[in-house]
Amino acid sequence: MKSVLLIAIIVALASCQGAEVAEPLAVQDRSFSSVILDAVEAFRVVLQNGSPKYGVPVMAPMTAAQRSFEFNTGEFSGTFGVEDFVLQGLDQYEVKTMNMDVIRSRLTFEFDFPSVNFTTNYEMEMGSGYRVKRNGGAFFALENLNIRGRISYSLGVFTSKLRVKDVLIYPSVGNVNSQIENLSKYRIFNKKLNEVIEEFVTLTINDSTDFVAEWVSEQVTPICNDLIGDRTLSDIIAIITGGF
Ligand SMILES: *[C@@H]1O[C@H](CO)[C@@H](O)[C@H](O)[C@H]1NC(C)=O
Ligand SMILES: *[C@@H]1O[C@H](CO)[C@@H](O)[C@H](O)[C@H]1NC(C)=O
Ligand SMILES: *[C@@H]1O[C@H](CO)[C@@H](O)[C@H](O)[C@H]1NC(C)=O
Repeated sequence: MKSVLLIAIIVALASCQGAEVAEPLAVQDRSFSSVILDAVEAFRVVLQNGSPKYGVPVMAPMTAAQRSFEFNTGEFSGTFGVEDFVLQGLDQYEVKTMNMDVIRSRLTFEFDFPSVNFTTNYEMEMGSGYRVKRNGGAFFALENLNIRGRISYSLGVFTSKLRVKDVLIYPSVGNVNSQIENLSKYRIFNKKLNEVIEEFVTLTINDSTDFVAEWVSEQVTPICNDLIGDRTLSDIIAIITGGF
């Protein structure tokens, strides 16, 4: 997820700047939006086909035959494994807004995802003192996922070196659909557990406040700048226009 986000940000930023350098002022607004939309469409293709050149795998659909990891939160520890995992919908976004504010050096955007969902078989073993073992099939969907955000940047006066100043992201979700089998062997209790998960995830996403946005910004901003490195604008434009 992190790498998808970063590529999106860099594509968006670099495209805007590319337009700024390449186009005369008068047609800037129109060309900005068309260049950005081109980049957003190009990114959809990257999600669908991957980019071997940059080591980016196919992410829509994203599949994993088998994967497992151990977790240890102090209170709980265990292992969690998935088999035949398929994540769909990352490429099904609709761009609601994409505005470049050259004067204030910021890009605001809003994306809608009708459904981002996964199906998988899972196996989980966890406990503290006692052991709990669960396995079964699972379907999980975030429906009408909306992502609003703002990227602020600065541009070196003489070097045209691009720096990301901050990245603010505000997600919300219309509906969460959790159908995880076998959380409990009692059907009615299993349904209840899924409802608890649905509510927890909805609230976690919808209530992610400025605090979370700031935290994300603190994590993402340095990574962005690391990725951009010492590349000048023209380097980045070359990467973008060179295609994936
Ligand atoms: C899962 O997501 C894909 C892509 O958004 C969508 O086409 C499909 O209908 C969704 N599956 C279900 C069961 O909602
Ligand atoms: C649920 O768990 C039981 C016991 O581990 C297992 O026998 C059963 O196959 C599981 N059900 C599904 C649908 O995987
Ligand atoms: C979460 O936010 C979305 C968009 O604002 C809204 O449609 C949805 O009803 C909210 N859900 C809850 C449980 O607050």
